Amino acid sequence: MDWGLKNRIARIISPADNRALMLAVDHGYFLGPTEKLEDLKKTIASLAKHCDSLMITRGALRTSVNPDYAVPIVLRVSGGTSIIGEDLSQEDITVSIKDALRLNVAAVAMSVFVGSKYEYQTIVNLGKLVNEAEEYGIPVLAVTAVGKEIGTKDARYLSLACRVAAEQGAHIVKTYYCENFEKVVNSCPVPIIIAGGKKIPENDALKLTYDALKAGAVGVDMGRNIWQSDNPVAMIKAVHSIVHGSNNAEQAFTLYKQLSGKPNNNNPNQKPNNNNPNQKPNNNNPNQKPQQ
Ligand code: R5P
Repeated sequence: MDWGLKNRIARIISPADNRALMLAVDHGYFLGPTEKLEDLKKTIASLAKHCDSLMITRGALRTSVNPDYAVPIVLRVSGGTSIIGEDLSQEDITVSIKDALRLNVAAVAMSVFVGSKYEYQTIVNLGKLVNEAEEYGIPVLAVTAVGKEIGTKDARYLSLACRVAAEQGAHIVKTYYCENFEKVVNSCPVPIIIAGGKKIPENDALKLTYDALKAGAVGVDMGRNIWQSDNPVAMIKAVHSIVHGSNNAEQAFTLYKQLSGKPNNNNPNQKPNNNNPNQKPNNNNPNQKPQQ
């Protein structure tokens, strides 16, 4: 693997613990002004310093992210559909590698819709994107998209979709957590991160995070379950304490409640573990360098 490619992957998946906390804010590319993501600038300003990388579109990046921020960018380069359109799977590549380079991205990301009407188009596009991105040492994150069927896909489907993406040369694959998730991870030769999916209660989202990592995922690419939380900063810190720390789901939820100023009525004896050597300092500095 070329130095540039390795270096960019290291900005996304921390070599210190082989873990990744990617914050997803790219939803507007097909959902428009998603609830709680209406004011992108504000959301990103408060959360960017707590993640390892930011998944975003070029329009949102140029309009809503301070270029002084050190946060590595995972640029969504696919699109062409909207939630009110006919078929979400008819995506194409919408951003050139030249523009991705101009934006100094750490990776490019696109969706593949395996098993859909437009699977051929999206899988071939993934192959083409890998061809182009490899030339410049840019890693490709493949998103195994499920259209409107979130929650209905099982390990058999997701392992097929992840494997297809990896075989096309994706360097990292993003998918959804499911039962028997080990099957998905074990049959995918590249690192897997999980999306959070639709908003669920914080303790469930933290359990999802913990269970996915325990099954072998290297991290999360989480959006709605962070910024649609009542306390997004507390939530991303709680997720961080699992991804880069040693907290289990319960400890992370205790931390979430403490940071939100909520009484811990779950288990009075449960203490969150916030003494983690890998924990990045929270100095409220958006220019904070990513963990190397
Ligand atoms: C789809 O809209 C995007 O690829 C999101 O980045 C992805 O679904 C992760 O976000 P969430 O955790 O909200 O599912």
